[in-house]
Amino acid sequence: MQKKLIEVCYTPADYEYFKGRFDIVVVIDVLRATSAICSAIHNGVNSVIPVSAIEEAKKYQEKGYLVGAERQGEIVEGFDFGNSPYSYMKPELKGKDIVLSTTNGTRAINIAKDAPTVVIGALTNIDYLCDWLILQDKNVLCLASGWKDKFNLEDTICAGAIAESLIKTGKFTSNEDSSVAAKYLFLAAKDNYFGFLKASSHRRRLKKLNLNEDIKFCLTPNQMDVIPILRNDRIEKLDF
Ligand code: MLT
Repeated sequence: MQKKLIEVCYTPADYEYFKGRFDIVVVIDVLRATSAICSAIHNGVNSVIPVSAIEEAKKYQEKGYLVGAERQGEIVEGFDFGNSPYSYMKPELKGKDIVLSTTNGTRAINIAKDAPTVVIGALTNIDYLCDWLILQDKNVLCLASGWKDKFNLEDTICAGAIAESLIKTGKFTSNEDSSVAAKYLFLAAKDNYFGFLKASSHRRRLKKLNLNEDIKFCLTPNQMDVIPILRNDRIEKLDF
């Protein structure tokens, strides 16, 4: 039985080198976009519409949608909320369709949207997501959102955790050094994400914005059994 592929792409800028070879793309933005999307879907938001540009987000707002928009870690002026996972736990958001635009995460989702299947990964849903990925028995790419097309630690470590989990089954293999390196980073960080990511550039950025609670939340694994999946232009709950 031929093993399936599990590979890691460090930034959206590199995606073109992987595009078209994978059945499933897992988009990852640990701090904080994909953690926020998992939180939203887990707390009963009906769908999240990921948009790349602020102008597009504004058009949705004019149509009466609730819109979250974040740039540089901060809420964009004039929008309902930013990218904190806690913002998406509000009971009044249950059953709603929400629009979200962030610096990197929503752009990465839109870059990958032509893949056969696009799902959302974070540390908060990692084991549940891996259980589902293993059952699919298909070629998987982890697309790290990074920071403005540059490598970041937290997304790569999350991708490395997924690679390690799938390879351990004996049904998956990696050919790219990017995947091997991500796995080693995960093995170095797995016992203390919080400590290991002290140096992370975006964590430092969020700390300066007094967003420590968000950091703690996003770096705490396996808080929710949820797999958000992209269907047409919106992210909904995958029934698994
Ligand atoms: C992003 O999309 O770059 C991040 O999620 C930014 C953030 O939430 O601070």
